[in-house]
Amino acid sequence: MSRRKLRPVFSRLWLLAPVTALGMGCSSTWGCDSDGHTSQSTFPIPAMLLDGGTPTQATACEELCASYGAKAPCSLSKSTEDKPEPDQVSCETLFICEGRRPEGLCSDGAVAVEVPALGALFARMAHLEAASVPAFERLADELAAHGAPERLVRAARRSAKEEVRHARAMEALALRHGAPIPELKVAPFQARSLEALALENAVEGCVRETFGALLAGWQARSAEDAQVRESLAAIAPDEQRHAELSWAIDAWALEQLSPEARERVEEARREAWRELERDAAASLVPDAVARASGLPSARMAQRLVRELAFSLMPQAHA
Ligand SMILES: [Fe+2]
Ligand SMILES: [Fe+2]
Repeated sequence: MSRRKLRPVFSRLWLLAPVTALGMGCSSTWGCDSDGHTSQSTFPIPAMLLDGGTPTQATACEELCASYGAKAPCSLSKSTEDKPEPDQVSCETLFICEGRRPEGLCSDGAVAVEVPALGALFARMAHLEAASVPAFERLADELAAHGAPERLVRAARRSAKEEVRHARAMEALALRHGAPIPELKVAPFQARSLEALALENAVEGCVRETFGALLAGWQARSAEDAQVRESLAAIAPDEQRHAELSWAIDAWALEQLSPEARERVEEARREAWRELERDAAASLVPDAVARASGLPSARMAQRLVRELAFSLMPQAHA
């Protein structure tokens, strides 16, 4: 895939994004990150259910979660002890937010159940941005150690600095929406082969970060919250360059590897697209959170993954 192909593909897919009306004011084979997307979020119990009925003590939490566009597993709780009946429901949400995760990532950016769902989403995004900093720092050191062109090493170092800015911007959004800044835990790095670097870059850079760059531009167009649009409009061009860098590193690394190692990298990339499509299809974000953050629906996210994968790797789908 020529990295120059990315911009026209992104521009074409962004045309599908619903542009927001003005004025209205984020599973892994890596390290110990077991699930990068799932969160529990708490909502007040709605006054009315989807079918028009009123919730009672006997109403199942699954039904209440459905009215928020969320799903089970779920639980009911009280906001204060003196309340006679439960007035809150905790529902599972599955955020689709993507970026470059380092090997050895041991934290997932999840926050307490009581945190509002929108804040929980930005906490996830902030965590992922913060995790990208050591990912790029390590990548720059490894590229230099493996004799990569200086322009790739420099671009990786610059990307690490940009990810610091992105993390701060997402942390500001998380704090504004009632979420704490999540802790980041990354296990110490070990030296590794060029093939291992290329495998990680294919999955985390060419697939996950590339889709993350597409999502950032999508959210910059669709978020109803003006501050979200502004923050993501500043981040999206950087992410597009990070995605291009991933593909440039991929092209250089594949040239150095044996045909067998190249095929292993290509297979890891094909599997990463399939996994990302499954994650996108399973994403489930409450409607209010989707509108404020500009995240696409599960169906649209799945379509975007499919079209992006097909545009960047048509031979893999022949
Ligand atoms: Fe970023
Ligand atoms: Fe990035």
